[in-house]
Amino acid sequence: MRVEVLANDDALSRRATEVVANLVRRRPAAVLGLPTGGTPVGFYRELVRSGVSFRQVWTFNLDEYVGLGRSHPQSYYAYMKRHLYDHVDLDPGRTHIPDGMALDWEAECRRYEALIRKAGGLDLVVLGLGHNGHIGFNEPGTPWNSRTRRVRLAEQTRQANARFFGSADLVPAEAITMGIGTILEARRILLLASGPAKASTVRRVLEGPPDTSVPATALQTHSDVTVLLDRPAAALLQMSDGRAST
Ligand code: F6R
Repeated sequence: MRVEVLANDDALSRRATEVVANLVRRRPAAVLGLPTGGTPVGFYRELVRSGVSFRQVWTFNLDEYVGLGRSHPQSYYAYMKRHLYDHVDLDPGRTHIPDGMALDWEAECRRYEALIRKAGGLDLVVLGLGHNGHIGFNEPGTPWNSRTRRVRLAEQTRQANARFFGSADLVPAEAITMGIGTILEARRILLLASGPAKASTVRRVLEGPPDTSVPATALQTHSDVTVLLDRPAAALLQMSDGRAST
């Protein structure tokens, strides 16, 4: 894994934008996996500012809460509309988010996997990092060959996301998420983590042994992963050779 430590969250957002914008300029019909949450807000802001055209780009979000419709302000559809869809020239027919209101969720998960395959697979998936090491909503203990499916959120995840809902009780208990196996099939992976609260998790992900109790350690098995950290998130790393610091 290549690790880049950026001065602050703004620099991290600009660097992530550079990676994605360069890919889209090179490959206008790129297939992107996209995260939500607090970390990528600055990244979407910079991506919009970059002026790059998304006209032919395909997007697949990592996850969606079960039971939240598109019009719910905390649905990940509403998030993507707020931070990206409303501000760039993406074709709505090429943007995808699992349907949290699907009646037949197994069929929905199969459909999602099939759509990713039909688009040619993910060229680049951008990930945030949960405090418990989750990627997407693949919580500790998730097998690394897991595919898109319905999952129960860890209590720690509901606590962490309480800030968006006002209270942890209001955070949906379940979600549909791409699996770790789905994520690992992406040709390239960009992991973003910022802030001091992520520092101990970052250390376990980058310097600990591969371990299913820290889902993001699965990324150690992928051949093309770039990790972008701000200084507070990198503060507990040993920083050995081969790590770029900017
Ligand atoms: C969201 C997602 C999650 C978040 C993670 C970090 O689509 O897949 O894995 O990336 O929970 O969230 P923040 O950035 O809010 O700390």
